[in-house]
Amino acid sequence: MLNPDDFIITRKRKKYKFAKFANSSSCFEFEDWQLQAVDVVEIGAGNGLFCVELAARRPHMQFVALDVKGDRLQKGAYEAEARGISNVRFLRARADQIAELFSAHKVRQIWVTFADPFPRKNSAGRRLTHPAFLARYCDLLRADGELLIKHDNRDFFHWSLEQLVAQEWRITELSFDLHESLLSDEYKIQTTYEQRWIREGLVTNFVNARR
Ligand SMILES: C[S@@+](CC[C@H](N)C(=O)[O-])C[C@H]1O[C@@H](n2cnc3c(N)ncnc32)[C@H](O)[C@@H]1O
Repeated sequence: MLNPDDFIITRKRKKYKFAKFANSSSCFEFEDWQLQAVDVVEIGAGNGLFCVELAARRPHMQFVALDVKGDRLQKGAYEAEARGISNVRFLRARADQIAELFSAHKVRQIWVTFADPFPRKNSAGRRLTHPAFLARYCDLLRADGELLIKHDNRDFFHWSLEQLVAQEWRITELSFDLHESLLSDEYKIQTTYEQRWIREGLVTNFVNARR
């Protein structure tokens, strides 16, 4: 049974979070962003906390956490501000808009973390590892740039690997259990979804691919 009062409070809370997004100097709407070169982009970043951790470790690089949901992104923005981390920004935009947001062939890393799996076959075009998105990532990445994907869902991950191979990406690092692997500790920084899945006993699949 839905309680209408809860519903009103929820809507108010969302409005409050959107206001926080609008008030933060590190949060940008698609319309307010100008084409520019950045080092690392996380697509579908959710609350952006993973990107904040990456940015804290690499203060000389410029990071962008991109998501369609500003109410989520504002959380990372306030965390970065509280910790004095100024090399990460939060951009409310769609993944299909990235060519208009970042200079071509300048990005060192693109992260796709726990993307919505869209399991239905006729929604495959919305998966952030669909060939149409891989082509956009390729256009942004430097010649030595890396696409890094983390996911809990084996079906989504296998499908993504198949797309990478079919589109002639080179797999340089691969693990079906990242946290038990000897791969970089930086890859093991946990996103918010990842923390949740690990608590539920799932493992993280990880791939690093280059063109
Ligand atoms: C399952 S959540 C994962 C969030 C975060 N990466 C994490 O691991 O905690 C997927 C996120 O992708 C975002 N998303 C889905 N499709 C997108 C698109 N086409 N462009 C930008 N963001 C998208 C959603 O809004 C959501 O925040």
